[in-house]
Amino acid sequence: MADYKLIDNNDIAHFIHIIGGQYVLTDSDALDKRSSDYTEDLHYMPQVVLLPCSTAEISQVMAHCHKECIAVTPRGAGTGLSGGALPVYGGVLIDLARMNSIVHIDKENFQVTTQPAVITQVLQEAVGAEGMYYPPDPASRGSCFIGGNVAENSGGPRAVKYGTVKDYVLNLEVVLANGDVIWTGANVLKNATGYNLTQLIVGSEGTLGIITQIVLRLIPTVPHRLSMLVPFKSATAACAAVNVILLKGFVPSALEFMERHSIEYAMAYTQHHAIALEPDTEAHLLIELDGSSKEQLYTEAEAVALVAEQCGGGSVLLADNEHLTNTIWMLRRKVGEAVKSQSIYKEEDTVVPRAKLPQLLNTVKSLGREYGFRSVCYGHAGDGNLHINILRDNLDDDAWNVHLITAIETLFKEVVAMGGTISGEHGIGLVQRRYMPIAFSPVVLAIMKGIKHLLDPKGIMNPCKIF
Ligand code: LAC
Ligand code: ZN
Repeated sequence: MADYKLIDNNDIAHFIHIIGGQYVLTDSDALDKRSSDYTEDLHYMPQVVLLPCSTAEISQVMAHCHKECIAVTPRGAGTGLSGGALPVYGGVLIDLARMNSIVHIDKENFQVTTQPAVITQVLQEAVGAEGMYYPPDPASRGSCFIGGNVAENSGGPRAVKYGTVKDYVLNLEVVLANGDVIWTGANVLKNATGYNLTQLIVGSEGTLGIITQIVLRLIPTVPHRLSMLVPFKSATAACAAVNVILLKGFVPSALEFMERHSIEYAMAYTQHHAIALEPDTEAHLLIELDGSSKEQLYTEAEAVALVAEQCGGGSVLLADNEHLTNTIWMLRRKVGEAVKSQSIYKEEDTVVPRAKLPQLLNTVKSLGREYGFRSVCYGHAGDGNLHINILRDNLDDDAWNVHLITAIETLFKEVVAMGGTISGEHGIGLVQRRYMPIAFSPVVLAIMKGIKHLLDPKGIMNPCKIF
């Protein structure tokens, strides 16, 4: 364990001086509330929770923590799935909840500047009201914060057409470990000026600094969408259909894969039994098309349905009204929570070159048979990104804590051999760090650790994450 200073009364007095007594919390309720995120059943108590309201306050807090060598964990909405917001060494937890203003919507330049604790959906709706669109929409968009999305480089269903968070971030204000405040880039669409520090911070999971302002590029609103759900008797055939659809030249705005249990559990969890599941259906593809003409979307949907049928797809459920569309997507977004309500699970966020998706699914299932675990797989098939939820069910401690680790190592080695990697959008955080040597050579890891050391020489920023 690293040698972090435990917080004492002098530190607390200093924090109160910086941000005010009511925003320095040490009561057990406040600590407990921030001791977990959405990851497995993990809990780590911080020593103190700070709720700063400005970059200047965070800068002063960091300067103090740096001087005293106090561990600091930044936290957004706590919806992360790799344990990025868990205060593993206690210390200070900086809850960014009060930094929740949209600073400026720049209609002329199709940009928005925002503080980190704006809920992603709120941001999408605010720019939508101005005729602009911010596409990345993680399943938790109704509760996650945009700052957390940037810190984790989130994706979501629309990444297949529109890219992930990294493709929208132009510039970031960041408080570094020693309290220095920097802007990483410029508010421009092109930038060939020096190293790309903006993209270094995107996905750095709070280990290099605290993101306090974000400048995003936006695109014009896309007026129409049409979703369809296609059942498959074979889950592997559903995965194989994904690439066939894309190779035909269709550009869906979402192309999602869901194994039978994902929908079954989501319907049971939400009590919305909107989808009739045939007994022999193994999986579904959820396909969304978007564009400027409704008629064109219907024509395209017919063509996509035909291709899906040629790949083994059954009769298509076309979501031709808003209610059904919303219900299907609500179910899709609830899959993660729904699976968690069934059993504790480990979430593997694998991603492979898209054409390898059937191979990935088969590998998971065969490892499941070998090691005796059950998995529910779903995810962003169009990106080759499969969320593998491994259910604990009745596995004993040995099977869960020892054998399963070997199984996951084997899985990740296979994924890397396929040209993929171990996280597509959930990050490494706490729970995947042990697998980093599978994804990267010692040289690459040393470069990453060197960058970390340069920006955070005392290792106080979100310790025990990534490495
Ligand atoms: C999803 C989250 C878990 O795709 O990434 O539902
Ligand atoms: Zn996802």
